[in-house]
Amino acid sequence: MSDTASPLLSIDRLSIAFGAHRVVHDLSLDIHAGEKIGLVGESGSGKSVTALSLLRLVAGASYEGAIRFRGDDLLRYTPRQMQALRGRSIAMIFQEPMTSLDPLYTVGEQVAEVLTTHEATSRRAASSCSARPASPSPHAAPTRSRTSSRADNGSAR
Ligand SMILES: Nc1ncnc2c1ncn2[C@@H]1O[C@H](COP(=O)(O)OP(=O)(O)O)[C@@H](O)[C@H]1O
Ligand SMILES: [Mg+2]
Repeated sequence: MSDTASPLLSIDRLSIAFGAHRVVHDLSLDIHAGEKIGLVGESGSGKSVTALSLLRLVAGASYEGAIRFRGDDLLRYTPRQMQALRGRSIAMIFQEPMTSLDPLYTVGEQVAEVLTTHEATSRRAASSCSARPASPSPHAAPTRSRTSSRADNGSAR
């Protein structure tokens, strides 16, 4: 990875507050294309709020600083711009797939919904991605968490 390439995602002195209560203070980090970053901290230190804030999925939060994705500050995006971004440019695998996946739908349907919502993909073509059930069975492969377009109400802990 070249140090000179622009980061894909750049969090720049981000602070997150709920009313007067600031829960994230001056966080900065860069993620380059293909790079993996682990965010480690004790319970309540702000990991989930930080991750959810990237897609602006935290109700009632106010922000200082910048979250730049491909150079654009997402904190300046309108709700409509954020909706276009979610699932298409940035997706999230939420914690606890047993609660973030809906057992009434197959995993394939839940993955396909992202493609049909954000891409010009037919439901049939998208459904060919997967047809495994979301509910676990002794013989099932591990399931994956739903992606962000179905999980705007999903909670991370
Ligand atoms: N919606 C919310 N309203 C008010 N405070 C919140 C909200 N969500 C999280 N917090 C507070 O933000 C802090 C960070 O929480 P969180 O990001 O869940 O921590 P972590 O994921 O690192 O365990 C905690 O003090 C938590 O109580
Ligand atoms: Mg958490």
